[in-house]
Amino acid sequence: MGRRYLITGASAGIGAAFARTLAAQGVTPILVARREDRLKSLAGEIHDAHGIESEIHVCDLSDRKAVDGLIQAIHGPVDGLINNAGYSLAHMFTATTLDAQMDFVETSVNTPTRLAHAVLPGMIERGYGRIINLSSIVAFSAGAAGHTLYPAAKAYMLKFSRSLSAEVRHKGIHVTALCPGSTVSEFTHANGTEKAAGHSPFRPLMPTQAVVDAGLAASDAGREVEIPGLFNKVAVAAMTLLPDALLTPLIRQGAKRFTLGD
Ligand SMILES: NC(=O)c1ccc[n+]([C@@H]2O[C@H](COP(=O)([O-])OP(=O)(O)OC[C@H]3O[C@@H](n4cnc5c(N)ncnc54)[C@H](OP(=O)(O)O)[C@@H]3O)[C@@H](O)[C@H]2O)c1
Repeated sequence: MGRRYLITGASAGIGAAFARTLAAQGVTPILVARREDRLKSLAGEIHDAHGIESEIHVCDLSDRKAVDGLIQAIHGPVDGLINNAGYSLAHMFTATTLDAQMDFVETSVNTPTRLAHAVLPGMIERGYGRIINLSSIVAFSAGAAGHTLYPAAKAYMLKFSRSLSAEVRHKGIHVTALCPGSTVSEFTHANGTEKAAGHSPFRPLMPTQAVVDAGLAASDAGREVEIPGLFNKVAVAAMTLLPDALLTPLIRQGAKRFTLGD
């Protein structure tokens, strides 16, 4: 039997690209998101191209009970987990409801943690597993007004991946934090900043395929952290090495374009 990978947020962007790429390698994708029509259409496309029957699970990953149901509903081994589903709240913290912020934490932090905890025992038993956690270059940033919890959530994914890797890498399980920068997807459409963000030569957009290829190569090689693309690597080096007093005002000024005024 071929490998099976659970991919959250498979209805769009980076997650859909993971599903297509893995299916082309003979992996059976277990597709998870809220938009059933999108998942069905992707599953049909994968079947036509590769003859593989994807598994579809419609699930709101901000809903703990629904995630419990998802975990119960997945039968058979899960060899890979791509914790990809995500979004951001482009508003100021106090301009949003607490429920909206807590749903964000549930989707971006708690659910990936719970899914990893659910699939790891089977991976350890079989001596094989691949986990890719979607972080971001903002995991390395000083933070800015708007998207308040987003850098925190992505820093969690980075640190969680590294610690988990330290615990399980000798058991045949590779855990990777994938840290893209701006990528072509529905992300800015979903958070309402598409028009405001526009396109800038200072913010080159990476194609989803390049992000996915870098993530899968890093996962195969057992790298704990992958920053795809030269621009993103330079950005992370700057955020890590330059003095705070120089960098923080630059980041905060630049971030204004990606924030909805409240
Ligand atoms: N695009 C970028 O510039 C960028 C940069 C760095 C990191 N990332 C990270 O990459 C990951 C993928 O983002 P993307 O750029 O591909 O964005 P996208 O095109 O907007 O796709 C987001 C995916 O997440 C799913 N999702 C969101 N909330 C969900 C929920 N409550 N329950 C279930 N699924 C949910 C969406 O599916 P449904 O709406 O159908 O549920 C969709 O499939 C995210 O973790 C993001 O933070 C993106």
